[in-house]
Amino acid sequence: MLDTLLFVVFPYVALAIGIVGTIYRYLTNQYSFTSLSSQFLENELQFWSSTLWHYGILPTTVIHLAGFTIPKVMAALHSTPELLYLSELAGKVLGVMALVGVAIMIVRRLTFTKIRAVTTPVDWIILILLFGQVFFGLILAFAYRWGATWFIHTATPWMVSLAAFQPDPQYITALPLAHKVHFFTGFLLFALMPFSRLVHLATFPLPYLWRRFQLVIWTRRKVV
Ligand code: HEM
Repeated sequence: MLDTLLFVVFPYVALAIGIVGTIYRYLTNQYSFTSLSSQFLENELQFWSSTLWHYGILPTTVIHLAGFTIPKVMAALHSTPELLYLSELAGKVLGVMALVGVAIMIVRRLTFTKIRAVTTPVDWIILILLFGQVFFGLILAFAYRWGATWFIHTATPWMVSLAAFQPDPQYITALPLAHKVHFFTGFLLFALMPFSRLVHLATFPLPYLWRRFQLVIWTRRKVV
């Protein structure tokens, strides 16, 4: 019963809140689509935290999405021992980078008075959830080895069943608590997106890939 609530009902509710909420916020307050950077209040730790976090979490997200949508790629990572060790190592390095990045974000907001003053309760909730999410992700990766194999036989079919509107939580109900916490928080973060700085995810500058080149014209007259 609890599994049905957490891994069938909740994912749909979270996705609905995330998508509808983000669209509503865009329509009603477009200028609030920002990460509200505090870089001008403190630069150095902001640079390290943001760089480590984004360079760690963005490839990790792409790997998750590939695992959900093209599991054959994930399976191919196990085809030779070299690839297996390399992919396991890469995943862990990226995860640790993200964890250190978000840890620095938390410390930075705790230690700099100016930054603490502009930190809202929702910011704290998101930072703690992100830390927990990456922490539990790393627990899965370190304590339950060869994730590329069990990922595509548990998380992938569960996600596919959700996407096909034929939800089947049986793929994950027998998994340990750490897995369930990680999966639940993944959807919780999505639900919180429109109420937090995470909304800046929706501003990912994809149109840059196909928009026309920007033409910069120098208008100042030359001093002769
Ligand atoms: C419901 C959605 C999600 C599912 C089903 C999921 C599933 C998994 C699984 C099965 C693993 C273990 C992979 C392995 O050991 O190779 C993992 C690892 C990980 N996850 Fe997630 N995840 C989800 C959402 C997220 C989110 C939103 C984040 C970050 C904000 C995240 C961050 C990580 C990290 C950092 C690792 C460790 C990767 C590694 O070191 O190889 N996950 N996840």
